[in-house]
Amino acid sequence: MDNVIDLRSDTVTRPTEPMRAAMARADLGDDVFGDDPTVNAFQERAADLLGFPAALFVSSGTQSNLCALLSHCGRGDEYIAMWEAHLYTHEGGGAAVLGGIQPQPLPDRGDGTLDPADIEAAVKPDDPHYARTRLLCLENTFSGRVIAREQLQAATGVARKHALATHLDGARLFNAAVAGGGDPYSGARQIAEQFDSVSVCFSKGLGAPVGSLLFGSREFIGRARRWRKALGGGMRQAGVLAAAASYALDHHVERLTEDHANAALFAEALADVPGLEVGAARTNMVFARPVAGVTPPDLVERLAARGVLCTGGRPEFRFVFHLDVSRGDAERAASVVRETLAGTR
Ligand SMILES: Cc1ncc(COP(=O)(O)O)c(C=O)c1O
Repeated sequence: MDNVIDLRSDTVTRPTEPMRAAMARADLGDDVFGDDPTVNAFQERAADLLGFPAALFVSSGTQSNLCALLSHCGRGDEYIAMWEAHLYTHEGGGAAVLGGIQPQPLPDRGDGTLDPADIEAAVKPDDPHYARTRLLCLENTFSGRVIAREQLQAATGVARKHALATHLDGARLFNAAVAGGGDPYSGARQIAEQFDSVSVCFSKGLGAPVGSLLFGSREFIGRARRWRKALGGGMRQAGVLAAAASYALDHHVERLTEDHANAALFAEALADVPGLEVGAARTNMVFARPVAGVTPPDLVERLAARGVLCTGGRPEFRFVFHLDVSRGDAERAASVVRETLAGTR
């Protein structure tokens, strides 16, 4: 079908022509030997931008979080995370499978934040009955929600008090930074500087085909580099991919505001739609709850048949706005949802 509007995720974007040109031009070497100039320059530049001594280019957000967990924790150690955190629920339990690292999931307060008192209570005493609590992991944005700086500070403050390391899954760090207004690069830095390590994805809203960066101290990144190799993530002429991510860092950060505006436009257009409770946009995402007995159970399929792809029904539907969705697409998608619910076609 022509003109499909794919709102399943911001991971579905295709590299733009200028991004492809940047990939084609990239100077290449062998990154496992550490001599790919494009990877090296990108790592150094991005680390500098976010205020870290070092960064490591990895294949995915999952690999980045896993390298972080394996580098912060050893066998018999434990990390604290929200029970819907991506790195706990959606990454195959990699840290437990490969590192013997136990998760300590905690419920959030319904707004994507952890109660500092819950974090405090979850830190285990130094006693052989317990795993050693080593690390606190947070996520920003979380399901599109920007987590306020004070919330991050409160949580990381508890971690520091107990000598825990801190990791941020900032897959969509720049969405959070852009939503904060002002210069998005310094906004991202201000969020990132509260953590010992941060993971940022370039293959989501930033529109690169592949790749994430893990940030941390030189020593931490040295450990992560070893784990990346062990995980099969040592890529050779990786500069061809780093060139795309580097292009995204220069050209696709500020435009994230367009995705946020399109998400808001879509949510507002459907605010009163019968048969669906559509929430306010959260950065580039819109979530909608089905209305029992009214929302067709096969809404995802019905929308797909009309060229609008989304995920959901478990229980919420999710619509994600990105580089390959224009304002016109957002308007058309809202009309398709409205018409489909009204059964007009
Ligand atoms: C918050 C978050 N962290 C990590 C990841 C993992 O990224 P990847 O799909 O590149 O492994 C995702 C993927 O959607 C994510 O949403």
